[in-house]
Amino acid sequence: MKRLTFAITGSAILALSGCATAPQEAKKDEPKPVEYAAPAVPGFEAMKIPADNPITKAKVELGHKLYYDKRVSGDQSKACYSCHVKEKGLTDGLATAVGAYEAKLTRAAPTMWNVGYIPNLYWDGRSPSLEKQVLGAMAGGNMGCAGKDKKPSVDECVARIAEPYKKDFEAAFGPGPVTKENFAKALGSFMRTIVSTDSAWFKFRGGDKSALSEQAQRGYQIFAEKAKCTNCHDGLMLTDNQFHNVGIGMEASKPDMGRGAISKDEKDTGAFKTPTLLDVSKSGPYFHNGSVKTLEEAVDLMSNGGKKNKFLDITNLKPANLTKAEKEDVVAFLKSLDVVYTIAEPTLP
Ligand code: HEC
Ligand code: HEC
Repeated sequence: MKRLTFAITGSAILALSGCATAPQEAKKDEPKPVEYAAPAVPGFEAMKIPADNPITKAKVELGHKLYYDKRVSGDQSKACYSCHVKEKGLTDGLATAVGAYEAKLTRAAPTMWNVGYIPNLYWDGRSPSLEKQVLGAMAGGNMGCAGKDKKPSVDECVARIAEPYKKDFEAAFGPGPVTKENFAKALGSFMRTIVSTDSAWFKFRGGDKSALSEQAQRGYQIFAEKAKCTNCHDGLMLTDNQFHNVGIGMEASKPDMGRGAISKDEKDTGAFKTPTLLDVSKSGPYFHNGSVKTLEEAVDLMSNGGKKNKFLDITNLKPANLTKAEKEDVVAFLKSLDVVYTIAEPTLP
């Protein structure tokens, strides 16, 4: 296999560092899209970019700032980044997230790695695009711009930053008012650049065997062959992007129905999206409800075949009867999936 090159990512990072200014002698109505090479994963399918929101450098730069700006949440206490921080593998380190106005949410923050490649967003896959997801996060408990109970609406939250960001929005979208639709487009464009190109896993898959330790390589072998974790955590991204019931939270008196509540299909009861395992050593506590503290316990649970319940996906998940040493190897493999986050904190206008 060919070795990976990082040329494309390099240009994306350069774009994010903001050292180049956008050459904008655009016509009055439309800003000229500046050539922008989104980071790509070599050897992987191309990211699907929505036709009505092509990636441009100006949009990514704007989205980068908005993603880190707390002023856009209802009580101005949370930025998107607040719950998707690099030290925690782009999650928040809590079992279940706490939103603006200290709202207690019911699910754990998932990682943002390679989110532009995920066709159905959220643990239950209810959101079909990043642009729609942004508006959902804004109006929901995360950002608290509910537009009722004395909370501002999404329009009002976005209006707060219209003045300081006027120039950035014009560079990205041309003259006109700052709208929540453009706000969502900018954030969507930025999130498509959160790609895990700087990871030992990608180097290993690209043919550089030395990228993983011997123990981690042994762990991968067990992960893929004996334990068949790859039935679901498959391929370069370590996910099939499908929904499976592995038994988490099913013992509750009113379990989270997960995908079942969206598809209305009984067999999806308690099924959740297979998460990528990139950066998983930092992203605990684990699972959609944060019910498992350590990676060791998570591997124990999964390699024992998940938690028994009526809807358990026994086709793909069977007890693997791993020895203690084999489990340790799998944990070593998972710990080698760390990713370097090279996106800097932006200066906010
Ligand atoms: C209070 C913490 C919190 C804040 C603030 C927050 N998120 Fe999240 N995020 C979550 C949680 C929790 C979920 C999972 C919700 C679910 O699955 O029902 C999530 C899910 C997501 C997903 C889906 C990822 C996937 O793998 O499917 C994306 C994308 C995302 N958030 C982006 C954002 C953006 C953009 C913002 C800012 C507008 C934001 N988040 C603000 C906690 C937060
Ligand atoms: C049937 C498909 C399937 C198989 C097989 C499978 N997983 Fe998973 N895995 C999932 C799903 C779905 C989740 C999320 C479940 C939830 O939160 O309710 C998950 C979650 C995890 C998590 C927690 C990640 C996080 O971000 O919270 C770890 C770690 C994990 N799996 C490791 C493994 C290992 C190791 C194996 C093999 C022993 C394995 N999985 C086999 C589907 C699978």
